Amino acid sequence: MKGDKKVIETLNALLGRELTVVNQYIVHAEVCDNWGYAKLHDALQKRAVVEMKHAEKLIGRIIFLEGIPVVSELEKLHIGADIPKMFANDHEAEIDASNRYNAGILVCGDAKDFVTRELLEDILGEEDGHIDDIEKVQDQIQQMGLPQFLSTQKS
Ligand SMILES: [Fe+2]
Ligand SMILES: [Fe+2]
Repeated sequence: MKGDKKVIETLNALLGRELTVVNQYIVHAEVCDNWGYAKLHDALQKRAVVEMKHAEKLIGRIIFLEGIPVVSELEKLHIGADIPKMFANDHEAEIDASNRYNAGILVCGDAKDFVTRELLEDILGEEDGHIDDIEKVQDQIQQMGLPQFLSTQKS
């Protein structure tokens, strides 16, 4: 089915965003693993996999709409030098994703592509969950102090 040009462009921009954060989260996960924080590693790896599934869904939709998925355009990664900075950067990435999905939903509505809009709404719900997860970690760090928090993340 031939899709709306603006919708396909929007999907490709979101795809680039998803592929970028997959890389950011995998790097953060592996740094946490290297420091011995197995629980943080697992949570970040899990988040990276969810983002990969978002990318997969976007690619599927672009192909269905007879567009060409662009998988080679990564944006700048924001790697944190320590755990609080990693979570601050990831929080920023998730807020940005949420803003972009909200904008994309409006584009789909304008184009009367309500199936793509529903897909973006579903993904937006998961990005919202990521923001919540990150804010929980940030709250715990603030409440316990960083050393105490990190002592809970070893295995
Ligand atoms: Fe995502
Ligand atoms: Fe996310």
